[in-house]
Amino acid sequence: MDWNNALILGMESSCDETAIALVRGGRDVLVSKVASQTDIHERFGGVVPEVACRAHMEVLLPMLQTVLEEAEITPDAIDGIAVTNRPGLIGALLIGVSAAKALALAWNKPIVGVNHIEAHIAAAKIAQPELTEPFIALVVSGGHTTVYLCHENGDYERLCNTLDDAAGEAFDKVASVLGLPYPGGPSIQRVAALGNPKAYPWKNSCLTKDGVNFSFSGIKTAVLYAARGQKAGRKGPLLLDEQGVADAAASFQRAAVHALVTRTVDAAKRHGVGWIALGGGVAANAALREGMQQCAETAGLRVAIPPMNLCTDNGVMIAARGWDLFRTGHADELDLATDARALPGDSQKRRG
Ligand code: KG4
Ligand code: ZN
Repeated sequence: MDWNNALILGMESSCDETAIALVRGGRDVLVSKVASQTDIHERFGGVVPEVACRAHMEVLLPMLQTVLEEAEITPDAIDGIAVTNRPGLIGALLIGVSAAKALALAWNKPIVGVNHIEAHIAAAKIAQPELTEPFIALVVSGGHTTVYLCHENGDYERLCNTLDDAAGEAFDKVASVLGLPYPGGPSIQRVAALGNPKAYPWKNSCLTKDGVNFSFSGIKTAVLYAARGQKAGRKGPLLLDEQGVADAAASFQRAAVHALVTRTVDAAKRHGVGWIALGGGVAANAALREGMQQCAETAGLRVAIPPMNLCTDNGVMIAARGWDLFRTGHADELDLATDARALPGDSQKRRG
């Protein structure tokens, strides 16, 4: 099998997006569909796993039908099936993986399990074909805030991590404290554009004293105190007017971006690499994209940032990562397992 031009079906269901894409040769997108469950989870203020699973069940097969129809292909044309099997909500992962296995069996196609974090990094390669290892990758989403050194041999070395909340989780919680709609990331970005980022002295509060890692829980409390006072808690009345909310959002965003950019660029300088790759939902944030670009340029580094629709969860990045695995001989069997807590780099180790 010549995998170079192979057509891969990518399937994603690890959290609150159901996504399917058909991608040729790792970057040529035939069709990409994403069904977000934002509206469903909005009333709960966060993702409810059981509710997410039911929504994946309802959407997955009709979406597959639409993808095949829009691509005007029959299953014969597909060369391999890539599916997110780790990490994520275990029930949600199982729905995608079970469907992918059934299709692989029925259509007699090879299957490969994809690590969701590795797929976020693969999205940067679609955006910037010149991106080559070794490079520094910042994966920043609702569940992860980690800087990796991505080696030529496919190893992902973890350099910096959050000591508590993920950055996306902090955006979501801070938005909720400020009375802004779910999901918090886009809300904060929108409101922050109207605020003064220097209104609160929070700039360095997401940088840990060890000089390496991140922390997003302290600033969350600072925003809570500013927004609702020290005693009232999250249910207390909002003490800020519209401008005050914008100022708090802008000051929070400035601190989060400052920490993410500082740690990532420092890591790139320390390890002497020429490239930085960004991935994950928070990489859709305009201030982070601009901040990273500027700081990296000043340091003589190049940055690969996926377009917005490839930063948040999607099927294209799963197909792209799956293509890479297939072409380097890493297919799986039909007993492919799911793993809620996997780290990147385990595919190489596990498969030898
Ligand atoms: O990668 P993703 O779609 O799902 C996970 O794997 O977690 O990331 C979702 C996270 C959410 O926390 C969301 O608030 C955040 O990405 N996000 C943003 C923006 N768009 C999405 N955060 C900041 N600014 C944005 N524009
Ligand atoms: Zn993700």
